[in-house]
Amino acid sequence: MATRLVSLLCLALGFHQVFAASYSQTSSHQGTQFLDTFTWQAIADPTHGRVRYVDQTSALNQNLTFASGDHFILRSDFTNKLDPNGAGRDSVRIQSNHQYTTAVMVFNIRHMPQGCGTWPAVWTLGANWPNQGEVDILEGVNDQGSNAATLHTSSGCTMPASRSQTGTSLASNCDANVNSNSGCGVRFSDSRSYGPTFNANGGGWYAMERRNTGIKVWFWSRNDGSVPAEVRNGATTINTSNWGTPSASFPSTNCDIASKFGPHHIVINLTFCGDFAGAVYGQSGCPSTCNDFVNNNPGAFNNAFFDFQWLKIYQ
Ligand SMILES: *[C@@H]1O[C@H](CO)[C@@H](O)[C@H](O)[C@H]1NC(C)=O
Ligand SMILES: *[C@@H]1O[C@H](CO)[C@@H](O)[C@H](O)[C@H]1NC(C)=O
Ligand SMILES: *[C@@H]1O[C@H](CO)[C@@H](O)[C@H](O)[C@H]1NC(C)=O
Repeated sequence: MATRLVSLLCLALGFHQVFAASYSQTSSHQGTQFLDTFTWQAIADPTHGRVRYVDQTSALNQNLTFASGDHFILRSDFTNKLDPNGAGRDSVRIQSNHQYTTAVMVFNIRHMPQGCGTWPAVWTLGANWPNQGEVDILEGVNDQGSNAATLHTSSGCTMPASRSQTGTSLASNCDANVNSNSGCGVRFSDSRSYGPTFNANGGGWYAMERRNTGIKVWFWSRNDGSVPAEVRNGATTINTSNWGTPSASFPSTNCDIASKFGPHHIVINLTFCGDFAGAVYGQSGCPSTCNDFVNNNPGAFNNAFFDFQWLKIYQ
């Protein structure tokens, strides 16, 4: 009886290992479908950005959100000079209505925000920050360098020095309460993964897989021959075992993913200056000071927009 149970368990575990990396598409978002699956959050930026987030009606009226065919565009205002004593630059922050735990998200992105002072991000977030965790998939500031993917958690989550990833680890402790909340980031090796270089190459695909054994992020530039066909085509079933070494890997070795990460919303936002872009603006080669630049140069934000071709979720 006990032997039977053990062999059944082995069988179950074996199957689990075989099937664990394969997923079925549970939703697909394109064009106007984004309008119903995300909420526009007209909230104050907790990271003190020179921004004013507007609601969906205002975003559509001001054309800061535009959805048609296979384009879903999110942008900031690029026509108005700002009163230095008034509100920040109008922009958008959207949050998915659904929450996800074990899942793969594939973002097909044509264009991302660029410009001095910009701080765009595609990320996922749990309740009661940082206790339910944060996964930054695509993030950077001031057009600088390649992408960094980062985890932010409560204490007791660290990353091993040796892991299978193409990027370079920036820090090992994911605890948001140490190192000024810089988290455990991984800098991507591919310069096409962020900013003007991302855009000049037609964007590409970002994928994030979250399972209890770890979190992985992949990036493939638009013309990268190594992009899996199932990613390029947005296939209905995928198997991440065949996707090659991820850009960033956050294994569960010294981090209990199951308890450090709760159900997560997807958040896409574009802010300016603030705790990150503002803090490092002086080293970016950008002119003036961050807030003055954002206030006085609306035309510099003509290219401060996301253009999503689609988002597909697999579970
Ligand atoms: C996923 O790919 C791996 C590696 O190629 C393979 O061993 C496994 O059988 C695949 N799983 C499914 C369900 O096809
Ligand atoms: C925008 O994104 C970043 C994530 O990188 C986050 O730290 C910041 O708080 C976000 N802004 C808002 C209003 O959530
Ligand atoms: C709104 O934005 C879209 C996408 O950038 C653009 O094609 C369209 O011309 C804009 N509409 C107006 C009225 O400016």
